[in-house]
Amino acid sequence: MKFLITISALILLLLSSWSSVADDHHDPDFDDFLECLTDEFKNNPSFSNEVYTPINSSYASILRFSIQNLRFDTPSTPKPLVIITPKQESEIPPVIYCAKENGMEIRTRSGGHDYEGLSYVSKIPFVVLDLINFSQVTVDAEAKTAWVQSGATLGSLYYSIAEKSQTLGFPAGVCPTIGVGGHLSGGGYGTIMRKYGLAADNVIDARIVDVNGKILDRQSMGEDLFWAIRGGGGASFGVILSWKLQLVDVPANVTVFTIDRTLEQNATQLLHKWQYIAHNFDKDLFVRVILTRMNSNQDNGRNYTIRASFNSLFLGGIDRLLPIMQESFPELGLVREDCVEMSWIQSILYFAGFPIDSREILLNRTQPSVRYFKAKSDYVQDPIPEYGLEGLWRLFYEAEAAEAVLILSPYGGRMDEIPASSIPFPHRAGNLYKIQHLVYWEDAQAQNSDSYINWIRRVYSYMAPYVSKLPRSAYINYRDLDIGVNNENGGTSYPQASIWGFKYFNNNFDRLVRVKTAADPENFFKNEQSIPSLLSQWKD
Ligand code: FDA
Repeated sequence: MKFLITISALILLLLSSWSSVADDHHDPDFDDFLECLTDEFKNNPSFSNEVYTPINSSYASILRFSIQNLRFDTPSTPKPLVIITPKQESEIPPVIYCAKENGMEIRTRSGGHDYEGLSYVSKIPFVVLDLINFSQVTVDAEAKTAWVQSGATLGSLYYSIAEKSQTLGFPAGVCPTIGVGGHLSGGGYGTIMRKYGLAADNVIDARIVDVNGKILDRQSMGEDLFWAIRGGGGASFGVILSWKLQLVDVPANVTVFTIDRTLEQNATQLLHKWQYIAHNFDKDLFVRVILTRMNSNQDNGRNYTIRASFNSLFLGGIDRLLPIMQESFPELGLVREDCVEMSWIQSILYFAGFPIDSREILLNRTQPSVRYFKAKSDYVQDPIPEYGLEGLWRLFYEAEAAEAVLILSPYGGRMDEIPASSIPFPHRAGNLYKIQHLVYWEDAQAQNSDSYINWIRRVYSYMAPYVSKLPRSAYINYRDLDIGVNNENGGTSYPQASIWGFKYFNNNFDRLVRVKTAADPENFFKNEQSIPSLLSQWKD
């Protein structure tokens, strides 16, 4: 009864506050949506506490809590009509049913790190299904497996593994606040990718709510759908509830180091050499390069220099690492004093920029700093010549590059051994490394956001001759709407979606389209870069 009253009151209040919410696009189906929920949840009155509309005083804080890019936290950013934070699996099918019946779109959010905000922004009337309460992690150290719910963060996953064992780990991303749901369904990589592949390569079961509201596991969803959700982007296929992971062995002691070199310290030549060797290193060794601009008081006529940070994790002790580095990359000049031995969980904290003895911090869902940013990605298959790198430095000397970062992550090792069609993520053998191009800016510069976005687009154009071609490949977890989008209201044709689809998935795109057509023929689960259904193209 309390719920009925709450919902009725919501409808009334919502109608009065409508225009500020939906930009005057009043959609009568929304009232029906709420009525449908009322009906579906008549025996579950506490569900009303999990429903937030703009009149609810917590609506804004719930919406904001998981926004990780301030570009999508502005007054003009389209907002959801409702946010629902379910607590039970059984609460999700009725939400899908009511949304489907009433023409509402669902955006599922796990950790909210989507680079283009697709988990909480849509131009058509939408509901955010926020899985923040689906955050349980259950580790079975003996079986070396874990079940993790989609709304858990990577930090809590790593923490829970370390609580049970110092010699087990999982090959997922570097930032602890990332949500498991988006990360695993888009691939997910981190510092032990060269030894164990992607996070998605190590998923052995999953639970999903499909478009018909059925809760399926690996066996009941079948191998095609299970294949698709491990790297094909979960949002096209349903709401993924939880994942069963194969944990991996890590030594009790790993070694980390970060060596900075500026242009005056031969950064260009070191980076040039790194391109030839980093993908061939021992699988235990991951050395990525982070490029940033620094002020310089050197007499170089520019005021700036470039810093290349060689940032590394080695799955072993210093005594084994030093000869490997001495033999394959002596120019870097790594010495014992540069290296620190620690446990694998401490290395997670080290890479996240936290003190290595502050393990509890991994349970914190909020990032220390959330900023405005735009990112793009590229794959490099042939080393970039020195003159190509020098041209890139010139772009870094421009005003917008003050807070720009390029992160170069080496492939090879296990990444080369896994066939390109094993899961939808196709970027395997033949890729030397991936580049993430990032530009950040602050509140005070928000008026000039376009100039930063233009800067990164110019970097991307500049890089064209040096990166993968036909298609120019990209990583779906570094979502970039510049590479192509679907129609706003659906009805996207296969040729239109192919523009971005082949870039993320190369030759796996066609299989994703077939799986989508079978799993969600009417294309209910859609967004700007969702896989199209052949049965609903041109007609949604
Ligand atoms: P979010 O909740 O925004 O979801 C992303 C997409 O997945 C959306 O389309 C959403 O609808 C969908 N989705 C989410 N949960 C779903 C579910 N349960 N069922 C169906 N669909 C679902 N990547 C990487 O590989 N290695 C790294 O080290 C990093 N580091 C990093 C740092 C920072 C600061 C950011 C912001 C991002 C990264 N990433 C990354 C990228 C990250 O892996 C990517 O953004 C993930 O998709 C984020 O997953 P979330 O669940 O947090 O995002």
